[in-house]
Amino acid sequence: MNSAYECSDVDHLLLRTRSQECASRVCLWCLEYVFVASKRISCRISQVMWAEKIGKQLGKPTRSAAGWLVTRFLVAHNRVLEEGAVQLCGIQPGDVVLELGHGPGLGLQAAANLLTGPTGHLIGVDYSEYMHQLASKKMKELVASGKVTLHHCDVTTMPLSDSTVDRVFHCNCYYFWPDLRKGAAEIHRVMKPGGLMVTTTRLCAVATFAAKKIMPGENWRPEAYMAALRDTGFTDVRMEDKQSRPFNYQAIYATALK
Ligand SMILES: C[S@@+](CC[C@H](N)C(=O)[O-])C[C@H]1O[C@@H](n2cnc3c(N)ncnc32)[C@H](O)[C@@H]1O
Repeated sequence: MNSAYECSDVDHLLLRTRSQECASRVCLWCLEYVFVASKRISCRISQVMWAEKIGKQLGKPTRSAAGWLVTRFLVAHNRVLEEGAVQLCGIQPGDVVLELGHGPGLGLQAAANLLTGPTGHLIGVDYSEYMHQLASKKMKELVASGKVTLHHCDVTTMPLSDSTVDRVFHCNCYYFWPDLRKGAAEIHRVMKPGGLMVTTTRLCAVATFAAKKIMPGENWRPEAYMAALRDTGFTDVRMEDKQSRPFNYQAIYATALK
């Protein structure tokens, strides 16, 4: 009786020890799972944080390490788009031409070279202080001579008179405007009747950026911008594919109807 009692006591002890081991193993597995999952989550969070940081810098570069890197990226990749937009908007020597969101100023230089007439004038706007300063430095002689005027301002509030601009061009800019109709309405206000606006974009690259959440929201979609242009008084709004080297791109055209 006694030994049976002792035996069942030992069994009970073993059982308790085993179940404790089992519980601690389950705890370990749980901890491991939580650790791995949290590592994955924190990796995902830091990816999202990086994407947002790059997106913010592309939308408004600041004088910082990230802003410097983004500027290098713009200079290395966007010459084709900038010079393509300048060429497609058909600048005449005496035109008043406006570039929106000029960034480091690749297109400004190309447009200024075509404005050889005495009335030819180039205006650039960018709301990034860093980009405004970089472009002002790059264009300092033409700014000093009065051929070029650069404004540090938002596209939606440009210090320009109504119906004074013949041609407008921009590259990689509208994606960042929180209100596309407001931007389009302001462009329409400053343009002369019949004036042409051209924007160039490399849609496959922009769509990749949007999928990685680098581009904010859905305003990068050309349909959204083209609808805003039609709603605010532009006509003959269309998009064309352009063959070019080292990459092909798209151009959106719109004519100011007044
Ligand atoms: C991605 S960068 C493109 C720069 C240049 N056009 C290029 O393609 O290399 C976008 C530029 O547009 C400017 N930008 C964006 N939204 C703007 C706004 N609402 N008003 C003025 N500038 C704006 C930014 O500051 C930035 O310089």
